[in-house]
Amino acid sequence: MALSNNYPEDISLEIGTQSLFPSLVWSTLFDDRASFNAKILKLANQARSNDPSGVSNTNVKGWQSPNNLQNLAEFEDINRRILQVCQRIAESLHFHPNVVLDHQAWLNISPPGASNKLHYHANCHFSGVYYVSLKAPECGSIFFRDPRVASRMFTSPITQHTDFTAEEERMRPEEGRMYIFPGWLEHGVEPNQSTEDRVSISFNVRAIQQPSPSRP
Ligand SMILES: [Fe+2]
Repeated sequence: MALSNNYPEDISLEIGTQSLFPSLVWSTLFDDRASFNAKILKLANQARSNDPSGVSNTNVKGWQSPNNLQNLAEFEDINRRILQVCQRIAESLHFHPNVVLDHQAWLNISPPGASNKLHYHANCHFSGVYYVSLKAPECGSIFFRDPRVASRMFTSPITQHTDFTAEEERMRPEEGRMYIFPGWLEHGVEPNQSTEDRVSISFNVRAIQQPSPSRP
């Protein structure tokens, strides 16, 4: 769309663009999600019955387990998948080959009306969420906030958002989908406006560099 001070195109211009410092969100969808999620849903409901008060963190009205799924044998399958996906991402980012990935994971059961406040995850390279059970789109989306804080000091008079001018981006949840993002990328979850629980697993992953073997 031309601007009102419409400069005539009397010279030939080629304008190139380059993306600097992008914020990436990775995603994958598991093929066996129906059977896989049925098992996790059962485990999640058991965990809530055993510990009805759970822990309080960013969850508003929702139930959250302690950060201990990585130590529980019954969650071995999802723990392994989290690490496999993050390993592929770390390789794509040229992480040092001698790093070992370490993670913590926890369950979220968000009943109708529950949400998660805007937050970020400290001391980890990747954070993520895996969706076990929900009713989309009414269950609410995860949203990410532009980390370029200084860009909000003088906003642009736009008619339509682009990746460059958006202040928030929403990702629609889907059963069997995993989103992974840098821990520093601020995010939250909209209120669950469906009539069913939204069940998910959240996690943090750190890459720990192993000491180099000492030389003889
Ligand atoms: Fe989070």
